[in-house]
Amino acid sequence: MFETIAIVGATGAVGGIIRKLLEERKFPHQRIKFLASKRSAGTKLTFGGAEHTVEELTPEVFADIDLAIGSTPDDIAKEFVPWAKQHGCVVVDESGYWRMDPNVPLVVPEVNPDAALAHKGVIASPNCSTTQMVLAMKPLHDAGRIRRVVVSTYQATSGAGVAGQRDLESGTRAALDGAKHDYEAFAHPIAFNCIPQIGSAKHMGYTSEEMKMVHETHKIFGDESIRVCPTCVRVPVSNCHSESILVETEHKISVDEARALFAGTPGVKVVDDLGAGQYPMPLDCDGDDHTFIGRIREDLSSDHGLAFWCVSDNLRKGAATNAVQIAELLVERGATV
Ligand SMILES: NC(=O)c1ccc[n+]([C@@H]2O[C@H](COP(=O)([O-])OP(=O)(O)OC[C@H]3O[C@@H](n4cnc5c(N)ncnc54)[C@H](OP(=O)(O)O)[C@@H]3O)[C@@H](O)[C@H]2O)c1
Repeated sequence: MFETIAIVGATGAVGGIIRKLLEERKFPHQRIKFLASKRSAGTKLTFGGAEHTVEELTPEVFADIDLAIGSTPDDIAKEFVPWAKQHGCVVVDESGYWRMDPNVPLVVPEVNPDAALAHKGVIASPNCSTTQMVLAMKPLHDAGRIRRVVVSTYQATSGAGVAGQRDLESGTRAALDGAKHDYEAFAHPIAFNCIPQIGSAKHMGYTSEEMKMVHETHKIFGDESIRVCPTCVRVPVSNCHSESILVETEHKISVDEARALFAGTPGVKVVDDLGAGQYPMPLDCDGDDHTFIGRIREDLSSDHGLAFWCVSDNLRKGAATNAVQIAELLVERGATV
């Protein structure tokens, strides 16, 4: 067990859900600390029926912390993770900063749990758009070896943190009132719009978010031969990312086989009855830890292709739930140092 645990970035969109999950899942610990920036230090949070004071993130604070679940911007994670490691504190990190470091395992517990056990003090949780995709890919890859993926995402504003959520609400209200809203998280209005850019321009016309889906998929499966073509789009949905995914496998998988494989995968729920209007939608998946799959059908443009629709709560399985599951895995398998 980790005696003293901490949430770094406890006041953020993901940090708030981590707090809820640690409570709901009764994560074993004796003491807990809530860390954030100087701006939030001194504010109060409730946990386990008691009021806790948010502390400022400093190097010294890790002296008596055994496990930290970090959910901060990348530059903050870059800074605080070495502070934690110096004090022998294990970190499960949500940010993008450590994910591709060869010494840091990148883990989705249902896909590559064993990678977590070989950690050297830090374990990274993937980008939200990658997590739900690799979870859906896993049974198909095991059964038929995936060779190619074409994915288009429809990503919720909560993926851009509390500022993204504020932008959707205030921007929509302002647009309806004919007023102006100064967007904090987005470069273009998100109200009544779609923005086909998440992150910065990165490689051959792909964005940083899109390249994360490529590199993180390769790292998690340990297979760089899987070809991934992503298009990431921000849509005016408050929470839950949706993805239209087409996979091509080496060995053909039928629709019925795929449905059975998905249904037997831990963490996945199939909702798939087009005739009855049953398929996953963000409003129905909000607040749920599962990744939902529907609209499973054969690819009309290739012999070994399968198309499907995948929705997951980006703040939960895309971030907080995955991180807490990694921490639980360390406790269960005794990999706490
Ligand atoms: N949102 C998602 O769907 C999602 C999914 C997967 C991964 N992630 C990753 O998770 C991380 C957090 O995302 P979020 O959406 O929760 O962002 P957020 O709502 O903006 O929260 C950021 C957190 O980091 C803290 N922070 C900022 N600057 C700090 C500093 N100088 N020192 C200490 N703490 C500082 C903030 O504290 P203050 O309140 O004091 O500023 C806040 O608690 C990001 O790396 C993001 O890429 C997010």
